[in-house]
Amino acid sequence: MTDLTLTTRRERPFDPPETYARLRERGDVHRMRYADGHEGWLVTGYAAARAVLADQRFSNRPELAHPPLASRADLAEEIRSQEFEVPPGFFLRTDAPEHTRYRKLLTGQFTVRRMKQLEARIEEITEARLDEMEAAGGPVDLVDAFALPIPSLVICELLGVPYEERAAFQEDTKILVSLDARASDALAAIGRVFTYLYGLVSRKREHPGEDLLSGLIEGGELTDDELTGVAFLLLVAGHETTANMLGLGTYALLADPAQLAALRDDPSLIGNAVEELMRHLTIIHVGPVRTALEDVEIDGHLIRKGESVTLHLPVINRDPSRFPGGDRLDVTRPATGHLGFGHGIHQCLGQQLARAEMRIGFAALLRRFPGLRLAVPADEVPLRADMAIYGVHRLPVTW
Ligand code: HEM
Repeated sequence: MTDLTLTTRRERPFDPPETYARLRERGDVHRMRYADGHEGWLVTGYAAARAVLADQRFSNRPELAHPPLASRADLAEEIRSQEFEVPPGFFLRTDAPEHTRYRKLLTGQFTVRRMKQLEARIEEITEARLDEMEAAGGPVDLVDAFALPIPSLVICELLGVPYEERAAFQEDTKILVSLDARASDALAAIGRVFTYLYGLVSRKREHPGEDLLSGLIEGGELTDDELTGVAFLLLVAGHETTANMLGLGTYALLADPAQLAALRDDPSLIGNAVEELMRHLTIIHVGPVRTALEDVEIDGHLIRKGESVTLHLPVINRDPSRFPGGDRLDVTRPATGHLGFGHGIHQCLGQQLARAEMRIGFAALLRRFPGLRLAVPADEVPLRADMAIYGVHRLPVTW
């Protein structure tokens, strides 16, 4: 039996845990014991990770997967999933052909025209947050003032949440994405968000707008239950992830004056810097997790039907065979090809939107506050070590 288990505890704020980085030196694929005692696998190498994600003999259905981690975050998730079975429309956790149907409908909604409109709104939303920060004066918590509200308001735009309902909606989604909320509070918030989204779908049916939900309704292929599940997925997939990239990304830049100066000196580097921050920071601590539907050979290892495979994306995105010197943050490095948005059929549906939020968000923040700096010693920034998505709990800054 293997001794290897999974932990999210990191020795340094911007680097993955050393155990797994060292493991990668010994090979791409390793046996690992899961939280329920299952003998599954851990992937630490880039080539093997792409092979798993591209192979449809691996399933993403939740009822097949074993839990890789017995952390507080996973416990909370477990409690939630017992009360709330994966709803119809939550297509991330489905396989082809069910997944294909949803994915096609959704991809059709991310049109060039809609993305252009959204980008214009992201710019307005970002400037409004910066105005508020400036008026309040430093120090402020950048997570609360900037990193959380931007993706939250962008999801409101996408779903067409009316302006007067946004404050209440944001309050509930904030509880929902903070896994440190008490399980009972989180469950209550999930319930309210579901009820709200279901009502929103019904109203859009009566009075369609320009938003994505209205577009899906117009297509006429999805039931109200399915539309509610889709809306919920977009909310949970697009909110906490983007917020933590904005928070942790700013912290990483402030902690690395040379990289910050490089970006300030040449703002045209921003697109590249976003890719590099995605690669270097890789905020998905653990996973994706997949389960073999039949025996599959990966990198010379026989993965048997029913065995789960966990990808360690933070370590994979530093694989020196793909990213030489990958332990260094370098905003000039061509970082495309990283797996921070996944790969294969489930590759992030919202990646263009997420990139736009980060590009616009980081650039506007640095432009507005040329003297932006941490308001506490760097080692006092509280890190989300035991959350499903890594990042900072708070980021006190001043300028
Ligand atoms: C920096 C921010 C983001 C990161 C790091 C991220 C990361 C990911 C990853 C790794 C996956 C693949 C999961 C898997 O294979 O199991 C994924 C899927 C997904 N993401 Fe994102 N994401 C981000 C932002 C967004 C945004 C803004 C949206 C939508 C508004 C979004 C919507 C989705 C959806 C719907 C899926 C499921 C796709 C499918 O199953 O076909 N994500 N994301």
